[in-house]
Order: sequence, then structure tokens, then C-alpha cells
Amino acid sequence: MLRACGIVKSYPAPSGGAIRVLAGVDLEVKAGQLVVVTGVSGSGKSTLLNVAGLLEEPDAGEVWFGAERVSAWSRAARSRARGRFIGFVFQSFLLLPSLTALENVLEAARYTGGREPATRARALELLEELGVLERKDHYPPQLSGGEQQRVAYCRAVLKNPPILLADEPTGNLDDANGAVILERLRGCARAGAAVVVVSHRPEAARGADAVWSLRTGALEPG
Ligand SMILES: Nc1ncnc2c1ncn2[C@@H]1O[C@H](COP(=O)(O)OP(=O)(O)OP(=O)(O)O)[C@@H](O)[C@H]1O
Ligand SMILES: [Mg+2]
Repeated sequence: MLRACGIVKSYPAPSGGAIRVLAGVDLEVKAGQLVVVTGVSGSGKSTLLNVAGLLEEPDAGEVWFGAERVSAWSRAARSRARGRFIGFVFQSFLLLPSLTALENVLEAARYTGGREPATRARALELLEELGVLERKDHYPPQLSGGEQQRVAYCRAVLKNPPILLADEPTGNLDDANGAVILERLRGCARAGAAVVVVSHRPEAARGADAVWSLRTGALEPG
């Protein structure tokens, strides 16, 4: 379902030259699989997810969604593909500060039925399942980090995307809430999604179909 092939990505270093973050990374996640990526801080995990999720362009390499080589598509087509295929839980949540928690979740369906009662009912159901329904009318600055993280999770899964990319989705959560999110991500994979989880929690690797560690720009079995 998701394939990243030969991904190379460097950033300009402030002092000149470049920092090579990804040096030819291959990552494949089939529908129904959950893959965990670990690695020390700064090893490039978020960069890899951003490239796989079409948020950043690699210097070299290809990204495929199913049989489509989406990395070759135009910017506008990539943006549409992102909306259709990808649910993203960002490390820093990226909730829109001018929207309430519920409105942020509904953003996932902005162009596809966000106003339909069924979509709204699903959003409310997710917020309830994640224990943040009472905060639905709060704006992100009025939410704790863990609450924002749970709202961001609800937004990512609202449309049942076939590819789910979760960047430290439990980083701000206590053990109990973290376990809930990890179990739900496993459930998304069982339901047929291709799921990538970046996490340092040893529990995240439980039940994963593959665990990779990002080290010096490459994925090693981890
Ligand atoms: N926009 C950017 N410009 C320059 N350097 C960047 C940029 N984004 C990331 N980097 C550098 O790329 C490296 C990898 O960053 P990345 O965020 O992918 O790491 P990470 O593995 O997700 O780390 P963490 O566990 O702390 O979230 C870091 O050294 C970072 O400083
Ligand atoms: Mg990161």
C-alpha cells in the first residue's frame, strides 16, 4: 500500500554544506500491516514520515501509494492524494488554533462531507472513545498536550484512511492513554490500513509486523 524507495533527503546546514538525514531509505508497508520505526532523536524519523506522507519532497527516491507513483505527481495532485490516502498524527499535533477540538477533527473531512450528520456523529464518537468529548468546544491552547494529541489522533482516523502515519502518537500521554492509542492503531491495521508508527515505547513494537531502527540515514532491523 505504501512504498518509499531509495529516499534521500538532506537539509542545508546553517554553517554551509548539508546535513544528510536519509541516505537511501526503503520502507514498505502493506495493507493490514503495522510497522514501527524507532531511532534516536534527530535520526530522521519525522523526516521519513513527512516524505512518505508527501509533506516534503525528497532529493531522490520515489513514493508509491498502491500502484500509483505519487511522488511523480504535480503538487496539486499530491495534495489531493494526501487528503484521500493519508491520516497523519503529527509529532507536534498541528491543530488549527482558531478551531475547536471538534472542528479540528472535522477538518479531516473538510472537502468530503464534513457537514454531514454522520461525519459529525463519527467525530463525536471518536472524541468520546478517546476521553476528550468534554473538551470538544475547547480551542487547542485550552487543551493539555495529551488532550491535543488525542484530538489529533481523532482527526487522523476520522475518514478511515488506507495509510496512517503516526509520529510519536503517545509522546504526551500517560501509560493508560498511550496504550489505548497503540491498541487502536493496531486495530486500524487489522481493519486493513497500512500503519507506520514512530515510537520509543517498547510496547509499541508489540504486535508489529516489522520494527525498524533509523541509524545514520538507513533503516536497520530493530
Ligand atoms: N527544515 C529543516 N531544516 C534543516 N534541518 C532540519 C530540518 N528538519 C529537520 N532537520 C534536521 O534533520 C535531522 C532529522 O530531523 P527529524 O525531525 O527527522 O528527526 P527525528 O528522528 O524525528 O527526531 P525526534 O525524535 O527528536 O523527533 C535533525 O538533525 C534536524 O535538525
Ligand atoms: Mg521527530
